[in-house]
Amino acid sequence: MTTASFTIPRSVEWKDEKIILLNQQKLPHVNEYLEITTVQEVWDAIHTLKVRGAPAIGITAAFGLAQASLTYETESLEDFYAALKKDHDYLASSRPTAVNLFWALNRLLTSVKTAVSVNEAKTLLTHEAIQIQIEDEEVCRRIGENALSLFKGGNRIMTICNAGSIATAKYGTALAPFYIAKERNIPLSVFACETRPVLQGARLTTWELMQADVDVTLITDNMAAHTIKTKGISSIIVGADRIAANGDTANKIGTYNLAILAKAFEIPFYVAAPLSTFDPSISDGSEIPIEERDPKEVTHFNGVSIAPEGVNVFNPAFDVTPHELVTGIITEKGVLTGNYQQEIKELFKEDN
Ligand code: MRU
Repeated sequence: MTTASFTIPRSVEWKDEKIILLNQQKLPHVNEYLEITTVQEVWDAIHTLKVRGAPAIGITAAFGLAQASLTYETESLEDFYAALKKDHDYLASSRPTAVNLFWALNRLLTSVKTAVSVNEAKTLLTHEAIQIQIEDEEVCRRIGENALSLFKGGNRIMTICNAGSIATAKYGTALAPFYIAKERNIPLSVFACETRPVLQGARLTTWELMQADVDVTLITDNMAAHTIKTKGISSIIVGADRIAANGDTANKIGTYNLAILAKAFEIPFYVAAPLSTFDPSISDGSEIPIEERDPKEVTHFNGVSIAPEGVNVFNPAFDVTPHELVTGIITEKGVLTGNYQQEIKELFKEDN
């Protein structure tokens, strides 16, 4: 949990066949850890944002599928695979946009293909889920190093939502450079958009960064243009939920606004994401399914109604930033900066 002299929180742990989840719904004022033991609880935790953030969703679902498999009481591999596929599909229905969910669940299915017994299959699944988490931590660290190379001491950088440690295995994607800068005593300041309607910026990004003593200032989403202009914001960095083959990027609703502002103010707009967030099977952002959530997230604030009863509501949880507005996509393998179509193709050629 601790690097150098500051704390970097984690959201998911696998302990004695249980999933221990930091309940992100309750942050920042209550630190509650949930002990998850059933596949229904895993589905609910992802669906209701107790765990959220693309890589963390993938890791949790992987543990959920591995955990579910341990309960299958059969010696027949055929029956085992049937049960596994059913739970795979169930967990895959928990949220639609972040591709890491499907990537992680499919990785688990692939990992058992060589199993010659049910017992071996169970061991392989648990091992693969743990491996996904270990790899994500390393990958995030590398994304942080690559992102930090784009910043200079004293920079003020804007972000939205929470693409931090608790959205991944550790460090985060968009927030990883700030942890690494802190380790190296490089001063960077973060301006965090609150991120209506669920307030991941206000509740989670500020909470994370303040624990690491990173200089962070909270603004509401509609203060972004004024803040860029008056506070000398040098760049914007965000995470991603799914990146299409041409670089179009789905991320938290409001990200597209920031990309347009970056263009207007002629500052760089960076997306930080692991390869597990790319979906080269879709040619552009129009194919990314955008989750629409409960209207109550918009009509209510902390359980209190703030809008007339019965008002029409549109509540998309994500938007798609066209690749033309993205200055660079920061991955664990380096920074993509030009012809995304070509670079993404190359990246996946290398990876296979
Ligand atoms: O609805 P959320 O909170 O799961 O949305 C999260 C984001 O949009 C993050 O920016 C993205 O998943 C990247 S997390 C490293």
